[in-house]
Amino acid sequence: MTTLESYNHVSPDSGHPTILHPNFNSRIKDWVPPDDLRKEVDPPKDRALFADPAKKLLFSAAKVTDLTESIGTLLEDVQLSQLSEVQLDELALLVSERGVVYFRGQDLTTDSQVKLFEHFGILDKHPAQKEVRHVTIKGSTADYRRDSVYTPWPQAGWHADTSFEINPPSYSMLRMEEHPEVGGDTAWVSQYGLFDALSPTYQKLFENLHAVHTSRLQYDTILDLWGVGPNRPPIDTHHPAVITHPVTGLKAWNVNEGFVTGFAELKKQESDKLLEFSNFHIHSADDHLVRWKWRVGDVAMWDNRAVLHRVIPGKYKAGSRRGVRTTVFGSKPRLDPESESREQREKRLAGEEQKDNKESTLHA
Ligand SMILES: [Fe+2]
Repeated sequence: MTTLESYNHVSPDSGHPTILHPNFNSRIKDWVPPDDLRKEVDPPKDRALFADPAKKLLFSAAKVTDLTESIGTLLEDVQLSQLSEVQLDELALLVSERGVVYFRGQDLTTDSQVKLFEHFGILDKHPAQKEVRHVTIKGSTADYRRDSVYTPWPQAGWHADTSFEINPPSYSMLRMEEHPEVGGDTAWVSQYGLFDALSPTYQKLFENLHAVHTSRLQYDTILDLWGVGPNRPPIDTHHPAVITHPVTGLKAWNVNEGFVTGFAELKKQESDKLLEFSNFHIHSADDHLVRWKWRVGDVAMWDNRAVLHRVIPGKYKAGSRRGVRTTVFGSKPRLDPESESREQREKRLAGEEQKDNKESTLHA
């Protein structure tokens, strides 16, 4: 047992092996990332915390349609480029509550999108792309089921953007510049909903766990498949498997298919089985899902602390889908065991309302 070479390549943080691909691929073995790992940062106060809870100025400027009960709101008859800073704060609050907010036919350019998004915090730089202030997003036309035989990173998997970072992103915005007529939809699923959908016993189980979020699989796969070097070394970060959302104060399930490889407190088989359940749990949550059919000029803004997302792979012409994404850093994820879930809050507020009604009837 002690002769296994893999024991010499164990991440001190995750306790998992660091060699995921055999070293046959010199592109993986020899790549030296030019940048260092990020240090923990203390991002500026979330703009949503400055917002009027009723969002009066934003709602008076737009037609508001909730797309499903659990997740997703469409704002129509409004241009993001015309919103005031107060309205942008209200938008951040709406996004953290509804998970994702959509706009049709926007007049933003890459420069004005970057400028607008700076309002929400410090802009993130993706480890795999060179543009400092935005990321170019393409589609997925690969046969991801077959690719998974050869590479351990689920390329088309559900994820929160770069959730392996010490400071994972809070808000992301994607603006579509080129898009096929059909195909290339993106789907989002609510992490508030995913937590509520668990039984109380499983809720407790996850609350006692840390998920191992790693960029290693993505790092190796990017080098193996694309030959493009990630800018930063791979990282494994342990984040609470249930977090308390820093704006809404609600519990959100913090496990995803794309970057989570296991649970730090569990033994291998326990961890693998729970991960298998976790991926099933995400894929079966169509009561907490919204799917968006893009048109050129559409914008989606989502909160990576409240939703997972995934582009639906398709057979459209490669290169016919291109979007520009901007992202800002969030705070380090934390769980407050005393916080409530969305369903618990709804029940509490409904109970309080009933009590108020009863009292006002008695006094009438
Ligand atoms: Fe993403």
